[in-house]
Amino acid sequence: MIESKENTAALNLHLEGSSRFVRACLRQPVDRTPVWFLRQAGRYMPEYMAVRKHHTLLDICRTPEIAAEVTITAAERLDVDAAIIFADLLLPFTPMGLDFEFVAGEGPMVHTPVRSLEHVKALRTDRVEELRYVAQAIEKVAAHFAAPRADGDRLGIIGFCGAPFTLASYMIEGGSSRNYIETKKMMYAGDAAWPLLMEKLISVLVAYAQQQVEAGADVIQIFDSWVGALSVTDYREYCLNPTTELVQRIKALGVPVIYFGVDTASLLPAMRETTADVLGLDWRTPLDEGWNAVGDGCGVQGNLDPITLFAPENVLEARVREVLALAAGRPGHIFNLGHGIVPGTPVDNVIQVVEWVKQFGVARTPRARHEAARK
Ligand code: CP3
Repeated sequence: MIESKENTAALNLHLEGSSRFVRACLRQPVDRTPVWFLRQAGRYMPEYMAVRKHHTLLDICRTPEIAAEVTITAAERLDVDAAIIFADLLLPFTPMGLDFEFVAGEGPMVHTPVRSLEHVKALRTDRVEELRYVAQAIEKVAAHFAAPRADGDRLGIIGFCGAPFTLASYMIEGGSSRNYIETKKMMYAGDAAWPLLMEKLISVLVAYAQQQVEAGADVIQIFDSWVGALSVTDYREYCLNPTTELVQRIKALGVPVIYFGVDTASLLPAMRETTADVLGLDWRTPLDEGWNAVGDGCGVQGNLDPITLFAPENVLEARVREVLALAAGRPGHIFNLGHGIVPGTPVDNVIQVVEWVKQFGVARTPRARHEAARK
């Protein structure tokens, strides 16, 4: 753990020449709402598909030049306020000793799923250095975006990792899952397997996040994509403590943390207890209700339904305006989708949304907010 004095120094360093995205993560005033998109580099984008024609997903992730290029191209094409490093949630599995592959149309497949205490014990935590290629890609992205853009703002750089529950679910189920039966069986068993798995994941993820921060990531987003499969009781009993430890140890590296999950309406107050700086909301919860559930001491990212990007212009514009109206210019709102952009999404509509957020997402003073609320 880094000493607290160094924490402050590191945080200041990241605020220097800071971007509206980073300031919004810390609930500081911004000139307008920052905007970026989950899965902004992906299969909906012809530029990504052109690269993908010649490389596998894992080759792209593991080659810093290509990962950086894909990251930069998407951020510049959309003209968003933050670039998320092109990587995947499952990359840390390899140094932990778990082989996996991406099967077309089926998503990730872990060859030998983790189902026993012996297997958990065999997972390695001493080879995180092998993930250095992600940090190298971040270094390139950070160098590219070091200078302020035309509007004087420096683009924010987002590193990321999976949350303990979501990563454990892939390890234990062996891939995507509907009911998470094996994962929950390990949680409920009450033996040493689940706590040890949490401990090992935290150790690897903190070291991995540290590499990313040292390479220039301004913010770390923790993806707990499938946490919505849990009841509040199970989340509190099996996941809140490990996730809180991960959040706090990453914050101690000197960067804000965004914590994102899907189907989290009932979990939001518990997720807030992790002390994440920003919570990512899915689109099912009206943004103001979600924000009320977590309180003013926390930023909120979201939460346009990604499928509205297929809607006619008038509907899409109304939905963008609605998200901004529900955020009401409060400091700490970052405009995003409620989950990732899906393949087939028209790129022009994504670009249009960025333009609307820039146009409509003007920050308001507390007084103007008050007056707007009375209208
Ligand atoms: O700009 C970006 O956000 C892209 C970078 C990125 C990828 N994966 C590349 C990728 C990020 C942030 C991720 C995170 C990730 N990976 C998550 C959390 C995000 C979320 O959506 O909740 C998850 C659950 C994974 C695991 C994963 N990777 C799955 C389930 C799949 C297959 C799903 C699908 O859409 O087919 C992947 C593959 C993957 N990772 C793709 C991309 C661009 C698409 C496949 C490809 O290009 O071959």
